[in-house]
Amino acid sequence: MCGIVAYVGHRPARDAVLAGLRRLEYRGYDSAGIAVLNGARVDVRRKAGALGNLEAVLRDEPLPGSTTGIGHTRWATHGAPTDGNAHPHIDCTGTLAVVHNGVIENHAALHAELADAGHVFRSQTDTEVIAHLLEAELDVRAGVPESPAVAGGQPPDGGPAPSGRQEGGGGRDPAEFAAALRRVCRRLSGSFSIVAIHRDFPGVVVGARRNSPLVVGRGENEAFLASDVAAFIAATRQAVEIGQDCVVLLTSDRLDVTDFEGNPTQGRAYHVDWDASAAEKGGYDYFMLKEIAEQPDAVAATLLGRLGRDGTLTLDETRLDSRVFAEIDKIVVVACGSAYHAGLIAKYAIEHWAGLPCEVELASEFRYRDPILDRQSLVIAISQSGETLDTLMAVQHAREMGARVLAICNTLGATIPRESDAVLYTRAGPEIGVAATKTFLTQLVAVFLVALYLAQSRGTKYGDEVAAVVRELALMPGKVAAVLDTMDPVRAIARELADASTVLFLGRHVGYPVALEGALKLKELAYMHAEGFAAGELKHGPIALIEKGLPVVVVMPPYVGRSVLHDKLLANLQEIRARGAFTIVVAEEGDEAVVPYADRLVPIPAVPTLLQPLVAIVPLQVFACELAVARGNDVDRPRNLAKSVTVE
Ligand code: F6R
Repeated sequence: MCGIVAYVGHRPARDAVLAGLRRLEYRGYDSAGIAVLNGARVDVRRKAGALGNLEAVLRDEPLPGSTTGIGHTRWATHGAPTDGNAHPHIDCTGTLAVVHNGVIENHAALHAELADAGHVFRSQTDTEVIAHLLEAELDVRAGVPESPAVAGGQPPDGGPAPSGRQEGGGGRDPAEFAAALRRVCRRLSGSFSIVAIHRDFPGVVVGARRNSPLVVGRGENEAFLASDVAAFIAATRQAVEIGQDCVVLLTSDRLDVTDFEGNPTQGRAYHVDWDASAAEKGGYDYFMLKEIAEQPDAVAATLLGRLGRDGTLTLDETRLDSRVFAEIDKIVVVACGSAYHAGLIAKYAIEHWAGLPCEVELASEFRYRDPILDRQSLVIAISQSGETLDTLMAVQHAREMGARVLAICNTLGATIPRESDAVLYTRAGPEIGVAATKTFLTQLVAVFLVALYLAQSRGTKYGDEVAAVVRELALMPGKVAAVLDTMDPVRAIARELADASTVLFLGRHVGYPVALEGALKLKELAYMHAEGFAAGELKHGPIALIEKGLPVVVVMPPYVGRSVLHDKLLANLQEIRARGAFTIVVAEEGDEAVVPYADRLVPIPAVPTLLQPLVAIVPLQVFACELAVARGNDVDRPRNLAKSVTVE
């Protein structure tokens, strides 16, 4: 939610920042802006709407070629998505510029205090208080000699010794800029990642973070500070993750990290193991189409090295001792959106294979009640971005209560895995389309691995079944690929229903979360009313919605073995068909029983019941994507949404 990028180096910052913003646009597309240093001031260009609008402004009014700059792509929180509220924001005199991701919860009090002191505000954003606070801090300290201790190495806020006055115009030490930002951060409540530039500090960028992402990229004589590695992946794959409550001082060849008190700390350096091409469309019209097509590979990557030939599993890399898995007596899954749906499926798997009670809760609800957790509880936090603020808050809450936390995450070095006891990475590669597709599928694989590993560690009665399922899991990349090969009829159904106003989705058991996920995809991409129901609930109310021609997608359980589930859902299918519903039935190949009741049939390969979501969700993703395109929507950037929800 909001993309930030800063550049210092040898190239014009405006070009490097703009290139970074293009890759971060999925984080928010309400407005965009860039600021660069220009002698005695900062020059800013910003514009409401998609990045293309800013690019048009830059063509008409080019920015100078300064090598220090920052940029932002916005998902609006405070203040409408207008030109005036677009970032960067400047101070009263235009000497500094700031961009911010997050929410400053005490902005109203700070705004009042600064306005009383004569600061003039130009926007309705919470961010602007940061620019004015920094201005006040730097003005108050300007010309004030460093405390005597500085000569011996201690700056006024107790930070590390300044390492020389190499860059600063006007003779100001870059360390002064970082110290000012630390003092500002100590006054802010809420979540934030911030980067700033100031005319007195050419060649310097400062940044800070609390509960919002910020990562450094270090190239040849250049450096970046960004919300996510995608911003600089074309220039460098050397990244440094920045810890919670830290301030960064960055030049082209220097990186100082401290906490908010000024105590030196270190980021963790790592190599990004995917390259720029992974974040390109690769010939597809939309990132979402490419990401749907990548699902077989993504599933294979999640399984890689974790399945043994003998049906055993290895999850050593989670950092969680296998004894912990044996000790726990309860699991609580916390997540949001699609990740929550993956959590609902996890419940069926964990309870069945591991024999452990499992609750699943929306992260946004979890921390506002009184969950009963202790050292024997394992909380599983599922988040592809690893930055969703609600999930992060749930993780912190769970740890405060003594529970151990396992994160399932797709983003290396993100905040949620860092704040958890253990992490299982899904390795789906970058997902740029706003709607979760391959990350959802790989979250499913990861929860199956955890459930099976729990069963293995605890030696539950399903031991033989576990070994058989492990072998079945190994076949899933091929089965997902087989589904993708047969999607033309699904696209045709989607085009046929492009003018529908409502689509309902029905499922039972693990098919119920699949129905919820299918409905969510349709809502967010096609902007139409869509709802998922547990089929058994139909007669308790929702059946009143059924009328002639209403499209209903029914996710049938496996037919092989004619399970009780299948019979029950078949009865529900007959009931809605009898009332005139237009039925689109997702059913196992060879399921002849459904044929008389299916207006349209979508066959999927036979797989064990618990694994069925891996193949059943794929046609629903394709359906939603095609229907949204048929309605003229941009599926990569659905309205009002952003990829990473870093505000509550
Ligand atoms: C829906 C979607 C969202 C996310 C949710 C959680 O397609 O993408 O519902 O699943 O915002 O995001 P993460 O997994 O990053 O915590």
